[in-house]
Amino acid sequence: MAEFVPVDPFDLVIFGGTGDLAERKLLPALYHRDRDGQFSDDSLIVGVSRSDITDAGYADWVRDALDRQFAPNRVDADVWARFSSRLRHRRLDLTGDDGWAELGAALDPEHARVRVYYLATASSLFGPVSHHLHDTGLVDERSRIVLEKPVGEDYPSACAVNDAVGAVFDESQIYRIDHYLGKETVQNLLALRFGNSLFEPLWERGAVDHVQITVAEELGAGNRFEFYERTGALRDMVQNHMLQLLCLVAMEPPASMHHDDIRNEKIKVLRSLKPITEESVAHATVRGRYTAGIIDDTPVPGYTKEGEAAGVRAANQHAETFVAIKAEIDNWRWNGTPFYLRTGKRMPRKMSQIVFQFKPVPHSIFGDQTLEPNRLVMSLQPEEGVQLTLMTKEPGPGGFRMRSLPLNLHFSDAFAVNYPDAYERLLMEVLRGNPALFMRRDEIETAWQWIDRIIDNWAAEDIQPEDYMAGSWGPTQSVMLVDRDRRRWFNPASGQNALDSEKHAEIKQ
Ligand code: BG6
Repeated sequence: MAEFVPVDPFDLVIFGGTGDLAERKLLPALYHRDRDGQFSDDSLIVGVSRSDITDAGYADWVRDALDRQFAPNRVDADVWARFSSRLRHRRLDLTGDDGWAELGAALDPEHARVRVYYLATASSLFGPVSHHLHDTGLVDERSRIVLEKPVGEDYPSACAVNDAVGAVFDESQIYRIDHYLGKETVQNLLALRFGNSLFEPLWERGAVDHVQITVAEELGAGNRFEFYERTGALRDMVQNHMLQLLCLVAMEPPASMHHDDIRNEKIKVLRSLKPITEESVAHATVRGRYTAGIIDDTPVPGYTKEGEAAGVRAANQHAETFVAIKAEIDNWRWNGTPFYLRTGKRMPRKMSQIVFQFKPVPHSIFGDQTLEPNRLVMSLQPEEGVQLTLMTKEPGPGGFRMRSLPLNLHFSDAFAVNYPDAYERLLMEVLRGNPALFMRRDEIETAWQWIDRIIDNWAAEDIQPEDYMAGSWGPTQSVMLVDRDRRRWFNPASGQNALDSEKHAEIKQ
């Protein structure tokens, strides 16, 4: 039975307390955990922002934010009374020297409660905020700091941020968030891989033809345009979420679930990634950017229009909203088995999945019957589950007809629980002091080194984003990326290994 275990009393300070992340994720997550009785009465949540608002004004803002995020009338009066009584607001310019003592005065003077600083800000502020906290005497060995992704924008800046934060906080006090690691089904990857003996002998180059990891979103850059323009999909999605998924599916079995055992295996995968070079970049990577299109029968504007609405002229728009990469892992287990990564905004629907495409049988005894190689699909969202396709015989007379059928496990059918949002789990793990679901410094920096090579070679080879229509599965080059290896993207809607069969047919002609 799922059970909510209360956490120790805490003071949680959210820098960026009126920002997008606080509004959409952190405050709703905290409200839900409070609703389920996990917080002691004296625990506090302090929002920090530049706004000149009182505690009561902040509570009003939070209430509006929850009403915007939840379905109508979802905020319960009793839970809200309790939750709002914990809310405080302190005004602070994070780059300035003033206001830090006032922030300290809002916190437990005895330092008896767990103290967490959540930095939902640009990573350029992580160092300065750490120093101010230290200089104001607000850091002790019970304090923890949470760093939102992305940490840095390349390897040197990530190292500089890690150095600056590391000068104040010990590595064991630093929690670098990748919210994908808090997703229930991402954790289930570990259960599936290491709780079943069935897969392990097949989890290697001899049995697996290739692996596909797709994280598709319906959303566009929208009101985060300026952030996206600075970041792009490679830095925003691949450097962290996609590479973390890759690590979890490709790593060796860890000795235990201890956080360092798992992180030690993940880092080996990152270190084994074959660098994308000047010679390989044009064939191994694809950049795309959406143009206007239709999603769910609704017309949506292109990236350029969104930029113009945000005041950024088309000539200055550089970011990619889609990336596909053929990643190769140079180790004994995976040599010669490509991992195709693909992520994009304004795709036909939200869908994250990992596909293991197994090799065909070595010899068919069924004459000219088509045998589809087995496929294991792990769906991470929105429908969580596992599907294994098997060849079977169609029943009845008329000859021996072979047919591929799926063996389906839908987690929502098996477990009658609502999965908490990833941020709910991650916030509770920080408050409990369990770093297993967070990234260690070396993981972040090694991931950046691999990503930086791609960015540098995009610049060296002048590789520009190719247009794709919103509501499609990405640019033509993405189909070509796998087609060159005589493979196809898997389309769960049609059950075929072709996400865009018409486009594929066109290209073949
Ligand atoms: C964030 C990215 O880390 O992840 C966003 O910054 C993206 O651009 C989001 O939309 C996707 O998360 P999820 O949980 O909706 O798959």
